Amino acid sequence: MIELHALTKRYGAFTAVDAIDLQIPRGQLFGFLGPNGAGKTTTLRMIAGILRPTSGTVRIGGIDITREPAAAKAKLGYIPDRPFIYEKLSGAEFLRFVAGLYGQDGAAVERRMDELLALFDLTPWKNELVESYSHGMRQKLIIASAFLHRPEVIVVDEPMVGLDPKAARILKDLFREYTRRGHTILMSTHTLEVAESVCDQIAIIQGGRIRAAGTMAELYASAESGTAGLETIFLRLTGEQAARELVEVLDA
Ligand SMILES: Nc1ncnc2c1ncn2[C@@H]1O[C@H](COP(=O)(O)OP(=O)(O)OP(=O)(O)O)[C@@H](O)[C@H]1O
Ligand SMILES: [Mg+2]
Repeated sequence: MIELHALTKRYGAFTAVDAIDLQIPRGQLFGFLGPNGAGKTTTLRMIAGILRPTSGTVRIGGIDITREPAAAKAKLGYIPDRPFIYEKLSGAEFLRFVAGLYGQDGAAVERRMDELLALFDLTPWKNELVESYSHGMRQKLIIASAFLHRPEVIVVDEPMVGLDPKAARILKDLFREYTRRGHTILMSTHTLEVAESVCDQIAIIQGGRIRAAGTMAELYASAESGTAGLETIFLRLTGEQAARELVEVLDA
């Protein structure tokens, strides 16, 4: 459903994403992990069609996002890590605006909007301006907006940041149920327990390259770490000097 071929992004002489190949089948909840600056957001933005690759291709359901952006984006919902919302819109107005971008309006959108607002405990805030929302409330509104047009693919950048435990749980259940129904979700996260507990497959990226990819069982096998946990694999693959460096800094 999502196919990346030799996907590359350079900023001047710096290569942020370095010839990534990845194939994500329909119905998967796919976790994208990696240290700060690894290239996750850059990759997700290229997949969402808002950042042009230097080279390589992105296909969504077989459609090339550079050649046929409108057709590919119609299949997509994108939840950015630092979303922009017009402060002077109410929650309901924002959701209607997003639905309109996908050519949807009317009773079906209103019903779906009410269901999503209720799911995230935002019903009392439906007609309040976004400027009065807390950080987590904005996050929940953005997430709701991505589900409005029932896209085949959702690309989401660090969705758990700022959510309270109940909202985080709802989101995990929503992602699982959405993929069980045949949709596909690619999610970046730093929360390894979330990745380990809900994702069908995981890729670990560092320095713009995929260091490992597969099911948890495959990652355990490739890292030759028994079943020591995703944190151990992650640190082994991305360099585990951190603790030693910490001691050096504190002793200096
Ligand atoms: N517009 C830009 N111009 C120059 N360099 C950039 C630009 N955007 C990103 N980069 C660089 O590309 C690299 C990858 O950044 P990216 O935001 O994709 O990382 P990330 O994996 O999402 O990290 P984080 O976990 O911190 O969100 C970083 O080194 C970053 O400094
Ligand atoms: Mg990022």
